[in-house]
Amino acid sequence: MTPQSLEVNAERPRWDDHELLLSENRPLGPHHLLRFEAPTLASRFRPGQFLNLNVPGHVLRRPLAVLRQEGDDLELVITPFGPGTRDLVNLPPGTRLRALAPLGNGFPAPEEDVALVSGGAGVAALLMTAAAALKSGRRVHVFHGAPGDEDVELIKASYGELGLEVEYYSEDGSYGRAGLPTAGLERLLADGVAVGVYSVGPYGLMRAAALLALEYDRPAYVSLDVHMACGVGACLSCAVLTKSGQKHACVDGPVFAAEEVVW
Ligand SMILES: Cc1cc2nc3c(=O)[nH]c(=O)nc-3n(C[C@H](O)[C@H](O)[C@H](O)COP(=O)(O)OP(=O)(O)OC[C@H]3O[C@@H](n4cnc5c(N)ncnc54)[C@H](O)[C@@H]3O)c2cc1C
Ligand code: FES
Repeated sequence: MTPQSLEVNAERPRWDDHELLLSENRPLGPHHLLRFEAPTLASRFRPGQFLNLNVPGHVLRRPLAVLRQEGDDLELVITPFGPGTRDLVNLPPGTRLRALAPLGNGFPAPEEDVALVSGGAGVAALLMTAAAALKSGRRVHVFHGAPGDEDVELIKASYGELGLEVEYYSEDGSYGRAGLPTAGLERLLADGVAVGVYSVGPYGLMRAAALLALEYDRPAYVSLDVHMACGVGACLSCAVLTKSGQKHACVDGPVFAAEEVVW
């Protein structure tokens, strides 16, 4: 073996198959916060990257964002949606799972103050960006939306732990301000505050936040929630139409610049 081929073999792959040990599983309103011991993986995520987690009894892994890394531990927020996520939130501590990770491109590092616009578990994909922006001295404006008051615990356990104030919008007016979080974003942009806009949540929310940012000529990024199977660019199930042609959300995304997406 030549020294050159040794060097090639020594290169770490971008992603790997890791073992995670579930150490805590607690409800946060309708969501669940799952904490894992993941010593081979925890420190390797950039903001906005994700893992593809196996669920016992299911063939396909499920793509999930990483809320937070602390030492060797990772935390995820999971909203039960279909059979896979319903089974995930019912797993007892002590369960060992496997995850392909870290996957995806992640968000660009904030170069100016930021506005985060989230809905539901979209918070998970944004929290590391919030922490990075605060660390680099940026101001962080947070607008979160939900049908009612169900996301209050999630907000406290995420943005709240960074000391961030959140403008919470409930559609039924039961908590915070009545309406949609894009109302807060629009007010900020109309006031001429120069921010980069980062949005993760339901498609309609990301679309509205992205179009507002473009209208006010501000940079904006979204993390698209697309059905994924392999998570590593092999199966082509996560196709997304962009202005520069078809892309695959697991390797070209999941983060896309708002102006690139065909809304
Ligand atoms: C990058 C990314 C990050 C995410 N982060 C989070 C998060 O932090 N928290 C959160 O709660 N949710 C997150 N999601 C959404 C989450 O992945 C979905 O809710 C979950 O995969 C749904 O799985 P399910 O079995 O519960 O439901 P369903 O989607 O209804 O699954 C039903 C069936 O569809 C099948 N299926 C799914 N995808 C495919 C496919 N590509 N091809 C063929 N069959 C398929 C499944 O195997 C299953 O049998 C994220 C999604 C993405 C893309
Ligand atoms: S999920 Fe297989 S190519 Fe993207």
